[in-house]
Amino acid sequence: MGPPPARRHMRLVSASKWYPPPADHDGHHVDRVYRLRLVAFVPLRDGRRRVVAVVERSDFEGELGTMLRRGLVVFAASLLLALFQGLLFSRRLTRPIEVVTGMAGRIARAPGGPWETVPVRTNDEVGELATAFNQMIARLNEARVGLERRIAEATRHIATLYEVARTTTSTLEIKDVLTLVAEKTLATLDLPQLVVLWHPSDLGDVVDAYAAAANGPGEHLEIGQPVDLADLCPGARPTVAPLPALGASLPAAVAERLVAPRVLCLPIVFKDRLLGVILAGLRAHAPAPDLELAAALANAVLFEAVRQKEVELRKLSRLRAELQEDSLRAMSRELHDGFGQVLTVINMDLGLVERNLERGPAAMRTPLRDARDQLTALLQGVRTMSQVLRPPMLDFGLVPTLHWFVEKFIERTQIAVALRTPPEETRLPAPIELLLYRVAQEALTNVAKHARAHHVDVELAVLDGQAFLCIADDGVGFEMERFRRKPVLAGVGLLGMRERVAYYRGGLDIRSRPQAGARITVTIPLGETTSDGGGVA
Ligand SMILES: Nc1ncnc2c1ncn2[C@@H]1O[C@H](COP(=O)(O)OP(=O)(O)O)[C@@H](O)[C@H]1O
Ligand SMILES: [Mg+2]
Repeated sequence: MGPPPARRHMRLVSASKWYPPPADHDGHHVDRVYRLRLVAFVPLRDGRRRVVAVVERSDFEGELGTMLRRGLVVFAASLLLALFQGLLFSRRLTRPIEVVTGMAGRIARAPGGPWETVPVRTNDEVGELATAFNQMIARLNEARVGLERRIAEATRHIATLYEVARTTTSTLEIKDVLTLVAEKTLATLDLPQLVVLWHPSDLGDVVDAYAAAANGPGEHLEIGQPVDLADLCPGARPTVAPLPALGASLPAAVAERLVAPRVLCLPIVFKDRLLGVILAGLRAHAPAPDLELAAALANAVLFEAVRQKEVELRKLSRLRAELQEDSLRAMSRELHDGFGQVLTVINMDLGLVERNLERGPAAMRTPLRDARDQLTALLQGVRTMSQVLRPPMLDFGLVPTLHWFVEKFIERTQIAVALRTPPEETRLPAPIELLLYRVAQEALTNVAKHARAHHVDVELAVLDGQAFLCIADDGVGFEMERFRRKPVLAGVGLLGMRERVAYYRGGLDIRSRPQAGARITVTIPLGETTSDGGGVA
């Protein structure tokens, strides 16, 4: 089926040109008015005739104009529609970004939280984004809370470690260090109870034990059997073990304190040596604490304590050497200036006696009396010196020696002293008598040197297998904090006192405040005297 031939052959020609009338003009009227027309013609099938269509050009153009206008309206409408759609589309793209930006802005304005969630209004991508954002905020909130908790924990740990280090510098007593280790470990790791087992260096396999509980005072435990600490902490590693697994390694007194099903074992290690073990009962469902932190805590305390002891030991040995040097120098001066001169005078007197031999006894009387006076003074000097070195009176007991010393003190200083002692015949082991005498001597010398006191109370008592000595004055006192912060600042007197008392496993308590006097209390257990202690005190 081909296209209709009429169409095929129709030609549109501009009427502005002159077309000659067709040859087979059949007498139709031809309008000769000169107007622009559009003429179309097409030959008929017979080949001789044609169909001619004539349209006024203005009509044609009018039609065309209408069509064009319609097209334009349609085009503008489509353009507007397309623009609107584009706008909608871009809005859909940018809104999620706006939401995210808004949220980010809010988080930036309140970095500490809490952060609000975005309302979910639609079910589309924006709704999805809001939901996702809310989930993210929830997770962020969780992370923030967790972080805050961890920061608070870390701060607490740091504060504890700081306090531990600060406090250990103020004490030299191993008992105090133990108590501190126990209390700090309990509090920091939030444990219900624990026991610190400790090898005193001089007692072989025997251990010291200190038990502490979160809700009560701590106490020293009597351990009646040797304990191998390495059995409790194999390889000196922190572990958590079931209580029964520790079995026979655990002394009964310690096992009693650890009623929990699981036990935290923390080795206390210093310079690769296992010095002690902390055993802590864990509540049935409590998570095991951070083992590394716990071990670090226990060891930090000891490290600090031992370091401090080393520093003080060095200072003491230096001071001891200096003191020895000083006393030798003082003795040599005393011998030279005091005894030397006296002996020279005696020598001269004796020379005089020798020269006056022939002149009879009367001439010898004066130089001989002079020589005797000098000898008496010399004897007195020797006595005083030996009293200072070691009062021979101590052979008759501490009580009479204290009375004698206090009398001399009052005579010398005019400071009133009230002395209370047990009966004269009370005797203590010789090294302890010497130790207590030295403490009283140093404390009273300090009162004379520093206190500007009017009254001193001295009390010696023996009770429940322990000896107590207390010296309290009403003088100017001193600031304890200074020594707490840096015990090495203390003089050799108080430091030496502490060392001597610690050697006999006793306790020394020094209390003082500016303008509130000073009180020194010494407690010595009497059952544990070491036989070689006499010369040390
Ligand atoms: N009873 C006291 N009253 C006031 N201050 C004291 C008293 N005892 C000690 N002090 C103070 O403590 C310091 C340390 O005393 P100590 O160790 O005996 O050393 P030293 O007597 O050689 O100065 C003294 O220098 C003094 O400041
Ligand atoms: Mg002194």
